[in-house]
Amino acid sequence: MTNNEDKLKKIISHSKEYGFVFPSSEIYDGLSAVYDYGQYGVELKNNIKDYWWKSIVQFHENIVGLDSSIFMHPTIWKASGHVDAFNDPMIDNKDSKKRYRADVLVEDHILKIESKIEKEIEKAAKRFGDSFDKEQFVTTNLRVTGYLEQIAEIRKKLAAAMDNDDLSDLRRLIEELEIVCPISGSRNWTDVRQFNLMFSTSIGSLSEGANTIYLRPETAQGIFVNFLNVLKSGRMKVPFGIAQIGKAFRNEIVARQFIFRMREFEQMEMQYFVRPGTELDWFKYWKDQRLKWHLGMGIPEEYYRFHEHDKLAHYANAAFDIEFNFPMGFKELEGIHSRTDFDLEAHQQYSGKKIQYFDPELQENYVPYVVETSIGLDRTFLAVLSYGYHEETLDDGSERVVMRIPPFLAPIKAAVLPLVKKDGMPEKAREIFDWLKMDYMIQYDDKDAIGRRYRRQDAIGTPYCITIDSETLENDTVTIRERDSMKQDRIPINKISTIINERLTLKS
Ligand code: GAP
Repeated sequence: MTNNEDKLKKIISHSKEYGFVFPSSEIYDGLSAVYDYGQYGVELKNNIKDYWWKSIVQFHENIVGLDSSIFMHPTIWKASGHVDAFNDPMIDNKDSKKRYRADVLVEDHILKIESKIEKEIEKAAKRFGDSFDKEQFVTTNLRVTGYLEQIAEIRKKLAAAMDNDDLSDLRRLIEELEIVCPISGSRNWTDVRQFNLMFSTSIGSLSEGANTIYLRPETAQGIFVNFLNVLKSGRMKVPFGIAQIGKAFRNEIVARQFIFRMREFEQMEMQYFVRPGTELDWFKYWKDQRLKWHLGMGIPEEYYRFHEHDKLAHYANAAFDIEFNFPMGFKELEGIHSRTDFDLEAHQQYSGKKIQYFDPELQENYVPYVVETSIGLDRTFLAVLSYGYHEETLDDGSERVVMRIPPFLAPIKAAVLPLVKKDGMPEKAREIFDWLKMDYMIQYDDKDAIGRRYRRQDAIGTPYCITIDSETLENDTVTIRERDSMKQDRIPINKISTIINERLTLKS
């Protein structure tokens, strides 16, 4: 197991043990790629949503919110292209009856070659000691350069097959690489077929004639089909945006990596409607703004990188992903797309309704162009946990797991802890707790020794612990312990709010 796989496993088990994320339907052995958020998970998730909503809707006079339904008219998904083209290439192994994404089987094969390279590097580093030059080794060692050539060749073939939608080429590549099913170990594969990722269900009672409808695979279409409603009721002027947070559903073939790829997940999307011809300027603006939003959480810049799409979707004229360095490596966290007028034009055509904007400055009607920012809430949650999870050995030799969650996102902002359960300390602590809980999520805890209580709060990422001791009863002061530095200060009770607030307000 690599360090990274190990870290993801630790985060998964910590999330369950401390009430962040549970496997769904666990007492029935779970449901693949579906998860439930526990008592701390739901708080963290709500805080991330709140940060996004405030930054997008509250801080922009020209962006408004929306909460559209999950069920929508089925023709919407025809117009958007999802019925015909929202597919992944799948392949089944006839012996294990397991289904795989054909491109992911090839990607996994590449990962295996990459881990062989890593092993060669590790061996050489040991052999050469301090004089080891990794760069030189990777570019000159024949075994490593051979592996790198293999990878480049496979990537070329995979990209060509995917770009041309050539399923038989993809099948040939799997055969050529002699890829076996990880379960059965056999190469007894079916043909590669396209698999539509939308979940369908039916609406209406049978007597009315049931109709197939879809669970939305993205929230964006709810925004497009409400464009006219918001435009008119909000008297909006281009450029303006509509933002939405909500559930989306995809029948992912490959379901793994915890909450990174789920079948039911949440998106935070914003469609920004602009004058045609200005979309690339706005695209650049939003690309910069969105990175700033991520950095605003206090996670260092090296955890993020932009990835420009090589092949643009038929409706886009620019597309970048913001990738995050998850324990599994850099992966997509957010997409920023310049979607042209594709969606509004398509809905205009399929609905037969005119979807246009009259620009008073230009004195003309047009279909606005759209710049979209689309971020996965669950992936942001995983990014925060991946960054935050730390195992530390303290000066006294003891160990702690601390979740360095950005304080303003922490599920519990402060814990109020009477040092002992006697001498009036619990009563005083309750008084402080009852007063602080009006403003923040606070926890009261008087069980176990104080050190264990600190450890419990560190493990859920609580930025402050407030301890009530005998001095509190004498002079109305408490100690306040900061999570990361574990530094304790004695402060007057009436300063607690100011100190907590300093690190929690978006102004800071
Ligand atoms: N409206 C555009 C759109 O849906 P996308 O790249 O397919 O674009 C946007 O999805 C974001 O939604 C992704 O960057 C990712 O964070 C999140 N996302 C997509 N599929 C997901 C899944 N199966 N599980 C969790 N998050 C997912």
